[in-house]
Amino acid sequence: MKQLRTQIGIVGAGPAGLLLGHLLHLEGIDSVITENRSRQYVIERVRAGVLEQSTVDLMVQSGVGARLLKEGMRHEGIYLSFGGMRHRIDMADLTHGRAITVYGQNEVVTDLIDARIATGRPLLFEVDEVAVDSFDTSEPVIRFSHEGEPHEIRCDFIAGCDGFHGICRQSIRPADLRIYERVYPFAWLGILAHAAPSCDELVYSLHDRGFALFSMRSPSVTRLYLQCEPDEDLSRWADDRIWEELDARLSTSDGWRPNRGEIIQKGITGMRSFVAEPMRSGRLFLAGDAAHIVPPTGAKGLNLAASDVRNLAIALVAHYRSGCDQLLDEYSDKCLRRIWKAQRFSYWMTSMLHRSPEANSFDRRRQIAELDYVTGSRAAMTSLAENYTGLPMD
Ligand code: APR
Ligand code: PHB
Repeated sequence: MKQLRTQIGIVGAGPAGLLLGHLLHLEGIDSVITENRSRQYVIERVRAGVLEQSTVDLMVQSGVGARLLKEGMRHEGIYLSFGGMRHRIDMADLTHGRAITVYGQNEVVTDLIDARIATGRPLLFEVDEVAVDSFDTSEPVIRFSHEGEPHEIRCDFIAGCDGFHGICRQSIRPADLRIYERVYPFAWLGILAHAAPSCDELVYSLHDRGFALFSMRSPSVTRLYLQCEPDEDLSRWADDRIWEELDARLSTSDGWRPNRGEIIQKGITGMRSFVAEPMRSGRLFLAGDAAHIVPPTGAKGLNLAASDVRNLAIALVAHYRSGCDQLLDEYSDKCLRRIWKAQRFSYWMTSMLHRSPEANSFDRRRQIAELDYVTGSRAAMTSLAENYTGLPMD
């Protein structure tokens, strides 16, 4: 058995775990990050791609924003499309210059792994049989096996950054957690295509046939999504069928439609809203998807992970610097206030833009009225813009 000792044991090397490790390193706090997948898998996994202004600022201020500033695509607006017309929401104008940046989660994770490796602090991939224990004592433990050898890390605190399916939340006694959840009766079929984006900004479209989204990853790669059934069979979606459906749902009467190109990736994303409260049990703190999930329509998942770990890092620094645990005690409540506002926004965007099998003709007319209002009223557009570019982290 190999024994290790660290200050913060971090479970999971997604954006939450890696960014936390980095923020702690900058303050001279030691951590060990354990990840059950391989480095390549973590980097190549296709996930979200929209960073709020505050997430960009956090990455830049903490010294991991150089490539993001160079290669990220700053967008000052988005389009909402319905009835064959695209309507632009000028987010920068409505929020005194705030914007979003399109930069794939793969790139964020790549930059954070490079930064971690440069520090020489431990980051262990492909660990097995991970378990967390004794977090109701002053010395919690993470156990796992790595390269066939059992390991035990004793730490001051554990950060559960292991995503929705991770073991940290599941290790908390069910009686100590409250779960709030909604599963939506639809999903997204997403593709990446080698095609130059035919519009400079994202297009969210409501069509009689269902929702569609035009997004991008780079000047030569388009990212597109279609609303589909929750149990959709990908093998029924030949490339031609995907392009026809995207054309039907996205093309507008001014002749705009997405450029086509070779499809290099296809996948189905389920749609769920989920919150576990509180985000703490003793010396185990949950952050990111381990504690909450939003449907992707508001593009908030990665950004919530960033604001959680920022709060956690600040609270841990206060613990080590001044012995004061007030911020640790306030961590869950502070995060949850922002998380619930992002839940509200993501639910609102999702219900405004999807065709629900439970909706009747009244609901469909009301949806169009909602879009008509949101694209016509400066007050409504401002509300969308301030939420989409991100509410303050403080
Ligand atoms: N032990 C170690 N690592 C684990 C374990 C485990 N038992 N279970 C899961 N993991 C790893 C996963 O392989 C993954 O790399 O934890 C990591 C969690 O990362 P994410 O799922 O990306 O979650 P998070 O870091 O909270 O990032 C926020 O919000 O909407 C999403 O796409 C967005 O993935 C982003 C997320
Ligand atoms: C993406 O580019 O993957 C993306 C963009 C906006 C969303 C969700 C996903 O709302």
